[in-house]
Amino acid sequence: MTDNEGIMDRLKLGTAELHRQAESRPLQKQLGAGTLARPAFAAYLGQLLFVHDQLERCLDDQVARETHPAFAVAWHSLARHSDNLREDLVASGLDPDTVMPLKATTSLLEQLNKWSEQGNLALIGALYVLEGSMNGNRFISKALQKAWGIDAESGLSYLDPYGDEQRTTWSAFRSRVNAVKFDESEAQAIIDGADRMFKAIGEISDEQHEAICVGS
Ligand code: HEM
Repeated sequence: MTDNEGIMDRLKLGTAELHRQAESRPLQKQLGAGTLARPAFAAYLGQLLFVHDQLERCLDDQVARETHPAFAVAWHSLARHSDNLREDLVASGLDPDTVMPLKATTSLLEQLNKWSEQGNLALIGALYVLEGSMNGNRFISKALQKAWGIDAESGLSYLDPYGDEQRTTWSAFRSRVNAVKFDESEAQAIIDGADRMFKAIGEISDEQHEAICVGS
């Protein structure tokens, strides 16, 4: 990594192809087009609840244990998306406590736990992917509101947690993390974490799509 290249710039460039692959999954395409049925959306949110909940707990744990100063820098002033997910699930008629994790979800949760035990900076790469996805989620929220004739408060809060503050929140996150100096092996761990999270969300999307959209 050169002196003036921050980790966030490297992540954006290095994962551009993974982003393209993630957004081209059938479930993601239906989300973007606003054609996903509401029960399928709720089922997908149920899986995301497992993921966000686990990542939030792992990050809280890193900050409490002070495993690396970058965790407190990154995990600062961001929304606890799991709270919004729980509310949205209830608004969609799905009891969060009745959702079972899919195979791809279970495998990701195990990975997150392992990283957490190790104090692995890969957790920051995982956070980058989920937090970055809020940039596109705003547009998905608009598409679903139009398709379902509902407003954002009726079960779509996860997709637009910051409202008009989205760009400011994202820029502040980028700047904070970009300002941290990581050595090459730390940077590689973060990039590996982002790769794994991108792929895992793709796998969860596909498994969910198979289970609900194709299977029913
Ligand atoms: C229908 C699906 C999707 C659409 C339409 C979409 C769209 C977008 C858009 C418009 C941006 C902002 C680009 C910019 O301003 O530079 C963005 C950024 C991002 N999205 Fe997506 N996205 C989708 C799916 C996903 C998924 C499934 C993930 C994660 C698995 C994801 C992760 C990210 C990340 C990490 C960024 C930040 C990139 C950066 O600036 O470093 N997106 N997306």
